[in-house]
Amino acid sequence: MKSQINMTGSAKLSTFNQFQNTCDEHGIIFTDKDIDVLRDRFSLYGDEYQSNLMSAIRKRAELNNKRQKHIEEILSESCNVPKRYMAAKKEDLSAEVLKEIDAFTTGRIEGLFLPGGPGIGKTHLAVSLMRESILSAERDITFQAPDRFYVKQYLRPYFQAIPDLLSEIRNTFDDDNDLSEKQLMEKYTGEGKDQNHSFLVLDDLGSEKKTDWSEQTIYTLIDHRYRNLKRTIITSNFSLNEISKKYNDRSASRITEICEVVTLKGI
Ligand SMILES: Nc1ncnc2c1ncn2[C@@H]1O[C@H](COP(=O)(O)OP(=O)(O)O)[C@@H](O)[C@H]1O
Ligand SMILES: [Mg+2]
Repeated sequence: MKSQINMTGSAKLSTFNQFQNTCDEHGIIFTDKDIDVLRDRFSLYGDEYQSNLMSAIRKRAELNNKRQKHIEEILSESCNVPKRYMAAKKEDLSAEVLKEIDAFTTGRIEGLFLPGGPGIGKTHLAVSLMRESILSAERDITFQAPDRFYVKQYLRPYFQAIPDLLSEIRNTFDDDNDLSEKQLMEKYTGEGKDQNHSFLVLDDLGSEKKTDWSEQTIYTLIDHRYRNLKRTIITSNFSLNEISKKYNDRSASRITEICEVVTLKGI
């Protein structure tokens, strides 16, 4: 949120609602930055203001903590994010990378393709954008109820490594599986009734064992996401050229159509 301190120059700290960081007189929500500025400005005005301010700051810190915990719960329980990447956040990314992914973050394009060797930060980048998407979904909701956090299921992003996704689909071939292959594919293509996985990270394309079936399944998945304008990030140790040789031109060309290709230079 943009700092609103300039608009609140005349705000008295006594009108500060400690529980929501709002000014009762002006109905304005204060950002952390506002509070810092207010602290400097009102430090001359004695103990009562100081103690109101301290409790507003404490409350804000508690809310932030609660929010962080909640986001990590969502990432691990509903989004399938591996523990290693739980703390990945947009603030970790350089200005250069942020600029390159701008078309994706502003919604001008549905996908990112992140090629390159191991350890350059592809998965970290993908998960940091998952966290960001939860934050923006959550922000809309917490605006009305700041201490209640809930992100609707269909707004939750989902992470899956390609080899795991293929074994999950293969497992549906067993008769006693709850989901049919069709239902599971619909979940991943975002075409299911509940519109799950509207933002999907497909990690490590090319690390799976290649068969005609795996090639066809991956093509169908990417093609359906392409047709339905579903947000998708694909990471791979291979370049698009290599992908088009390893699979076929169809998959590579779909990826080109959905995705901005961003080659990271390392951490
Ligand atoms: N921008 C970053 N800031 C902090 N740690 C990072 C960043 N990018 C990557 N890392 C960490 O470096 C390690 C390798 O990154 P990773 O995303 O797994 O690379 P890749 O997917 O390209 O193989 C991981 O532990 C990851 O959390
Ligand atoms: Mg990776």
